Amino acid sequence: MRIILVGFGVVGKSVTTILARRYAEKVKDYGFNPKIVAIADIDGAVINPRGLSPEKLEAIKQRGFPISKDPDFGHPGMSALDVIESVEAEVVIEVTPVNIKNAEPALSHITKAFKTGKHVVTTNKGPLALAMPALTELADYNKVYLRFSGTVGGGTPMLEFAKRCLAGDKILAIRGILNGTTNYILTEMSQNRVTFQEALANAQKLGYAEREPSMDIDGFDTACKVVILANWIMNKKITLKDVDRTGIRDISLQALDEASNSGNTIKLIGSVDGGGRPTVKPTEIPKTDPLCVSGVLNAVTFSTEFAGEQTLVGRGAGGMETASAVLRDLLYIRQHLANKLLT
Ligand code: HSE
Repeated sequence: MRIILVGFGVVGKSVTTILARRYAEKVKDYGFNPKIVAIADIDGAVINPRGLSPEKLEAIKQRGFPISKDPDFGHPGMSALDVIESVEAEVVIEVTPVNIKNAEPALSHITKAFKTGKHVVTTNKGPLALAMPALTELADYNKVYLRFSGTVGGGTPMLEFAKRCLAGDKILAIRGILNGTTNYILTEMSQNRVTFQEALANAQKLGYAEREPSMDIDGFDTACKVVILANWIMNKKITLKDVDRTGIRDISLQALDEASNSGNTIKLIGSVDGGGRPTVKPTEIPKTDPLCVSGVLNAVTFSTEFAGEQTLVGRGAGGMETASAVLRDLLYIRQHLANKLLT
């Protein structure tokens, strides 16, 4: 499987690491033989149609920005769109930074990949939050796969669990803590009486927060994930503008204390059900609720018609965690191509 990697930040680098580390075992178990034939970043590209060796990938990582200075395979100034158009590959992995204003440049990368017959694996929430119904239709039209399991829950397979493991049931409602940064902030505030600003600064230092902190604390990141869950799991056709959203800026230590005195705490909860508008808002929940996880953890509860409530808990962010979701998606595509299924 020839792969074009678009974006070489934390997730992009982690993808090359995980592919190298799991290579032998995945070839053995799945006949999966991934070759990264190109990496495109903002300065240009590195291209080797025979596949960039693990040593070369390591050297590119070590050398850092700009990647296109590579003496053997560098193409300074070559755009990601040109790479996607001109380099032969089966899959594009799109891991550029999230942009929820117009979803670019990821949206153009993904549509270009579709139009040139390439499957797409992405961890980028922007294009899905703004145009998921159109993108899934375009993928179907071009008979290619679009997989995005790293967009919700990081390495924790929330989308896969609901879609595949609960396939025999009907999911009536979904509610969850879908953002590690806000959960970390609220946990620090309530358990350690740290101020909002201090907790946010720590989350940024630890690498959980988005580049633009408003994405996390004003609930946009959670809202993007609600959109993805609503479309993929509950067959809604919605985008970000359909979500009612309130962030955690106004949550005070006093409000957290009052909740605590009643055996509750406040969490930023994203939810969607069969009826009204999906919402993101700070919500008081009992400390005994399985959703009530601490720190940077994410948790989601699926309420189902027959199997009752199922809660999945795990780390929702991090380079290697998210890269494991990318590998999961690649294996999915590999298996489905081998079985000639397109579902
Ligand atoms: N900033 C996000 C979070 C990263 O804190 O959960 C993963 O989407």
